[in-house]
Amino acid sequence: MDARRNVTKRGFIRYTFLLLLILVTLSFIAIFNHTQFQNITSFLRPLWDTPPPPFQYIPHYYAENASINNLCNLHGWTLSSEPRNVFDAILFSNELDLLELRWRELYPYVTKFIILESNMTFTGIPKPLTFALNRHRFAFAEEKIIYGFLPGEVPPSDVHIDPFLIESHHRSIMNELIRRSGISDGDLLIVSDTDEIPSSHTVNLLRLCDGLPSVLHLEMRNYLYSFEFPVDYNSWRATAHIYSRWSRYRHSRQTDLILSDAGWHCSFCFRHLSDFVTKMTGYSHADRVKRKEYLDYSRIQRKICGGDDLYDMLPEEFSFKKLIGKMGSVPRSSSAVHLPGYLIENAEKFKFLLPGGCQRSPE
Ligand SMILES: *[C@@H]1O[C@H](CO)[C@@H](O)[C@H](O)[C@H]1NC(C)=O
Ligand SMILES: *[C@@H]1O[C@H](CO)[C@@H](O)[C@H](O)[C@H]1NC(C)=O
Repeated sequence: MDARRNVTKRGFIRYTFLLLLILVTLSFIAIFNHTQFQNITSFLRPLWDTPPPPFQYIPHYYAENASINNLCNLHGWTLSSEPRNVFDAILFSNELDLLELRWRELYPYVTKFIILESNMTFTGIPKPLTFALNRHRFAFAEEKIIYGFLPGEVPPSDVHIDPFLIESHHRSIMNELIRRSGISDGDLLIVSDTDEIPSSHTVNLLRLCDGLPSVLHLEMRNYLYSFEFPVDYNSWRATAHIYSRWSRYRHSRQTDLILSDAGWHCSFCFRHLSDFVTKMTGYSHADRVKRKEYLDYSRIQRKICGGDDLYDMLPEEFSFKKLIGKMGSVPRSSSAVHLPGYLIENAEKFKFLLPGGCQRSPE
């Protein structure tokens, strides 16, 4: 009698366990029904991935009317007797509007704008020389431009292309271009992508103070599609270097030091829907385009106005709390305060980057 009861009990536990397992599996399938496997791994990131080592934040002080001497001192630096020359170096693909905002923002303080462009994307697709074709738009900076053209060779179709290899080739060509730009030891070199724009007062501070660390990451506010969708403060890849022969054009972690709130990183901030497609198929993460419908203009337009991810991907976060907090659309902001000056002075021309401007034209 007792033995039989034990058997039924064990059976009951086993069935309950099985039922639970099926329920959990089903709910996972339900949650991720419309997305891909990639999302399950992203969702479980807090379990398998460790966050990068924490940065050491340098508090950043600024007010419009503050004296530069006072600002240098607040950062623990001293006012330099002579301003540094500033070199701003970018690899350009097709971010024309952001390039204009960037160069207008930095023009007063930059000695040379170094720009490298190729006729092939990192994924091996031929591309127009967007900068060269639109160079007239940058006539205001002409005497400061150092332009490099990097010819791309379309690889034979049976050769596997590694976008990260092509990108690293571009970076090494960029190192040569910088060396030949007239830069000297002690000058300031800004290394960032076109869409990572340091604010002009940050660059002014770095050119006028002595005692800076030799390499410094620049923390930037992240935006998606336009300044209407502020994501977070977590952009860190841009760097400022006191140039020496060891300085290298890299876009990775180089030091623990980071200067807070030093500019804007506006991802996918394009004027035309066609530019989104070019970017989605042309850069190092082209493998994220898992379905052809991802490139439909109407779908892209919907995602932009909703502040939603173009690839239906989950945010990259290292704790469940942050991950869940960031799931879903980026909330809209109505603030257009503390943005690049030229954007505000030309609000009509750049209205697609401002609150209420999410509609894009196709071409
Ligand atoms: C800004 O600085 C100038 C000159 O130092 C001073 O005369 C003026 O009162 C200041 N304005 C504000 C708003 O602090
Ligand atoms: C890029 O330009 C070079 C030289 O003008 C040419 O030889 C090469 O085929 C071009 N590459 C592509 C991908 O169009």
